[in-house]
Formats: sequence, structure tokens, C-alpha cells
Amino acid sequence: MSTVLIAGASRGIGLELAKQYASNGDDVIACVRDTGAASQLDEAASGADNIEIQQLDIGDPGSIEAAAAAIGDRTIDTLIISAGAVGGGRQTLDDLDLEEWHRTLDTNTIGPALVAKAFKPNLIAAGESNLMILSSQLAASTWPMGGMYIYSTTKAAVSKVAQILALDWAGDPITVTVCHPGWVQTDMGGPQAEITAEESASGIRNTIAGLSKADSGKFYKWNGEIHPW
Ligand SMILES: NC(=O)c1ccc[n+]([C@@H]2O[C@H](COP(=O)([O-])OP(=O)(O)OC[C@H]3O[C@@H](n4cnc5c(N)ncnc54)[C@H](OP(=O)(O)O)[C@@H]3O)[C@@H](O)[C@H]2O)c1
Repeated sequence: MSTVLIAGASRGIGLELAKQYASNGDDVIACVRDTGAASQLDEAASGADNIEIQQLDIGDPGSIEAAAAAIGDRTIDTLIISAGAVGGGRQTLDDLDLEEWHRTLDTNTIGPALVAKAFKPNLIAAGESNLMILSSQLAASTWPMGGMYIYSTTKAAVSKVAQILALDWAGDPITVTVCHPGWVQTDMGGPQAEITAEESASGIRNTIAGLSKADSGKFYKWNGEIHPW
């Protein structure tokens, strides 16, 4: 069994990933920005002895460093960054909230890069390991959709972060991938979305299980298909 760290495990796809990996017998380090407001994760952890909850606000570099210090030199086989913010939904240039754009850049783009940096030693210590960042189809140039300046640009940027990490870590035993989790029935995706969080998380787990170093730098859909950039 392996150790899986999930950043953004309080709700949605991250929570479901935590539950599924724990059910599978893996040790889960479930990271949440507010440990006092993660009741669904608390409930899952109360029925499992292999879910450990750790504070980590991905928009706060100090919090990321504190989480890395708390986790110390434990090996991490799989690190999934699910934390993400929608950045206010649809905008026009006339109603852009610039503070929200900066905040969302911290959450969606810079935070994942800092998490990768903070836990690189733990991933290397595991031998063959995986870092997967959940981005979005809206990040792809092949998926043109207007009106979401903040979300689409910060997700496009984090996809690029993953691609750069895959190149810069080519000599390390870490497979870095980026994933569109589907249009998922979560707080972010809404109830009309196409797939459930269970289906998305299960597909992501299967996809990761089939990866090898040769796949580093690839952009996947939750179902294991390649997503065009
Ligand atoms: N749902 C979709 O249809 C869809 C489609 C494409 C891509 N995605 C991506 O998939 C990922 C998961 O989405 P979801 O649908 O599960 O979203 P969600 O239901 O809105 O949940 C978002 C998660 O991110 C966490 N988060 C937000 N800001 C954070 C921060 N600063 N530090 C730590 N955690 C933070 C939230 O924690 P709190 O509870 O503390 O707010 C929550 O656990 C996101 O990256 C999203 O962009 C989702």
C-alpha cells in the first residue's frame, strides 16, 4: 500500500479521492485549508484509521511550508493537487475583480508550484512517484470558451507549470501529469454536471495507476484518455 497526499480534500473531487484511496487501504494525508470546516472529511476520517488530516492553505506559502515541516521526511507515492477556485465565474473586462484574479492565481497556479517544491523530497524518497495537478479543459487552447478570464487563465498557467515540472524533473523518479477531471457534480461543477465525483475520482485513480515515467508531461482526462493541449 502507498501513501497519498491530497491537497484540497475537504469537499468535491479531493474528498472523494481521499475516501477511495483510504478504502483501498492506502495511507491518506488529506490536506485542507481550514481543519475546523471540513465536516465531510472529518466524518470519513472518523470511520478510517488511515486518513490523517493536515492543515494546508494552498494560497499561503507559509502554510505550505508548515505542512511540509509537519509531514517531515515521510515518503509520498502519489500527490494530487485538487484544491482550486473558480475565481468568480463568468466575467467581462468591465466587471473583472482584480483582487480575485490575484487570489485565484495564488490558489490555482502559484500554490501548486509551491506544493510541488515543498514535497519533492518526499516524492523522490518514494522511488517511483506521481504528482498530478487537476487543471481543466478550459485551460486548453482546443477548448475556446469566453467569459472566464480568471479561471481559464489560472488553469492554463498551472497546466504549463506541470509541463515545465515534467521537463525540469526529467531526471527525477517523479511522473508529473495534469488532468481534466471531467465536468463533475460538485460545488464547483454544479448538480447538472455530467459525472459524479465518485466516477471522476475512480477514473483519476485508475489513470494514475497506469502511469509510468514515460507519461510525464502528459495532459489526461479523468477516464485515462489524452486531453489535447
Ligand atoms: N467540478 C468540475 O466540473 C471541475 C471541472 C474541471 C476542473 N475542476 C478542478 O478540479 C479540482 C477540484 O474541483 P471540485 O469540483 O472538487 O471543486 P469544489 O467542490 O469547489 O472544491 C474545491 C476544493 O478546493 C479547496 N480549496 C480551495 N481553495 C483552497 C486553498 N486556498 N487551500 C486549500 N484548499 C483549497 C476547497 O477547500 P475549502 O472547502 O476550504 O473551500 C475544496 O476542497 C479543482 O482544481 C477544479 O478547478 C473541476
